[in-house]
Amino acid sequence: MDKLLKKLGPVCAVIGAQWGDEGKGKVIDILAEHYDVVARACGGANAGHTIVVGGKKHVFHLLPAGCLHDGKPVVLGAGMVIHLPTLLQEIDTLKRAGIHIVERLHLSGSAHIVFDFHKEIDAAMEERRGAGKIGTTKRGIGPAYMDKAARDGLRLSVLQRLDATATKEWLQAKAAVVQAMYGVRIDVDAEWQQLHMAASLLRNRIVDAPQLLAAFRTSGRSILVEGAQATLLDIDHGTYPFVTSSSTTVAGALQGLGLPPNALTGSIGVAKAYCTRVGSGEFLTEADIAAADRLRERGGEYGATTGRPRRCGWLDIADLRYAAMLNGFTCWNITKLDVLDTQETIPVAMGKNSDGKPAYDHLAGWNSTTFRAQSWKALPAQAQQYIECIERQTAIPVRLIGTGPDRQDMIVR
Ligand code: IMP
Repeated sequence: MDKLLKKLGPVCAVIGAQWGDEGKGKVIDILAEHYDVVARACGGANAGHTIVVGGKKHVFHLLPAGCLHDGKPVVLGAGMVIHLPTLLQEIDTLKRAGIHIVERLHLSGSAHIVFDFHKEIDAAMEERRGAGKIGTTKRGIGPAYMDKAARDGLRLSVLQRLDATATKEWLQAKAAVVQAMYGVRIDVDAEWQQLHMAASLLRNRIVDAPQLLAAFRTSGRSILVEGAQATLLDIDHGTYPFVTSSSTTVAGALQGLGLPPNALTGSIGVAKAYCTRVGSGEFLTEADIAAADRLRERGGEYGATTGRPRRCGWLDIADLRYAAMLNGFTCWNITKLDVLDTQETIPVAMGKNSDGKPAYDHLAGWNSTTFRAQSWKALPAQAQQYIECIERQTAIPVRLIGTGPDRQDMIVR
C-alpha cells in the first residue's frame, strides 16, 4: 500500500472508466484513511453508494463515500448540483449513528441548488422523449444544469443572504416559465421553506472552495478527489445524448473543485472486470439475456439510486483505452473479479469487426474461486492472465483488484 500511495501522491482522483457503478466507493474508503481531505466535484443525487452506518445499510447520494472517516474535512465543489433536503437527510442519518459531519462540511457557494421542481421537469422531459428516453435517475440533474448553463440558477451562496422577497420572486418567475413549458407546477412556499431550513443548518458551511483547497495544499494536507458517475457518461466525451449533464473525467473533477491541473499527482481509473450500464444508449458488449442475468445475479447489479436492474455485458478494451486516454490514469482498480469465477470462458472485446459488432477474444476462465482473495499469488493463473491482458492492452498497470464486497477483499499490487 505504501508503494501505491507514494505513486499516487498527495492529490489523487478516483474516476469511473465505464458507465458508472464500477464500485468506486470501496477504493475511496480504503484510500480516504490515508488522505487528509475528501472532496466531491460534480454531479448530484444521481450518484449512489451504499454505506453501512451503525450496522445498518444506507444509500448516500451527495456526501462522498470518504466522509465516514472521522474528523476529515469534506468538500463539495462548485461542479455539483445539490438537492438540499437530500443533503439534510444524509447529515441526519449520520448524526443518528453518532457521526457529526456538519462541523467539517465545506460547501462551495458556487454549487447549484436542485429544487423539487427540477426533479419534476426531469420526469416531464423523459416522458416527452418517448422511445428516445435517456433513462435518467429523475433526480433533477439535467434541469438543474440547464438553469446553471442558462445563468438562471440559484447557487448555494444564496443561503448566506436568504431574502424571502427576492427568492420568492425568482421562484415565481420560474413558476410561470416552467408551467408553460413543461406543465409543472412549482410550490413556491414549499421550495422556500426547504431553502430556509437548509440555511439554518448550512449557512455557515458555505466556503470559497478553491481558496480552501489551496490553503489545504499549502499547509501540506493531502486531498482525495472522489469522482461521480463515470467517463462514458461525460457530457462532452461520453455517449451523448445518453450521458449525464456534468463533466465526469479527471479534468472535470479538477474544474468542479477549482483545483489547478498541475495540483493532481495521481489518478485511479476504476473499471469492473466486466461492464454494466443503467439507462439507455449504446452498449456494444451487452451480453445475451442468459449471460446478462448470470452477471446481474452474481454481481448484484441493481442500481443503488433507482433499484433498476443494470444492463450487463463484457469488458470492452476500446472503452478502457478511451477512458485511459482522456483521463491519463496512473493505474487501474479492476473491481468485482470474483463475479467472473463461474465463467468457462470470458469474452473480452478487443475492438470492432467490419460489421460494427465487437471482436471478442475468449479468454480462459478459472473455474475456481477468487472470492475474498487478498494477494496476487492467491489468484488462479487464468485470473492473473485476465488482469495482465488488461494491462497489456491499455498500457496501464492494475494496482488494485476487487474480489468481494468487504473492505479487505482487495488485492493491492
Ligand atoms: P441523470 O444523471 O440522472 O440525468 O441520468 C443520465 C444517465 O446517466 C442515465 O443513463 C443514468 O442512468 C446515468 N447515471 C447517472 N448517474 C449515474 C450513476 O451514479 N451510476 C450509473 N449511471 C448513472
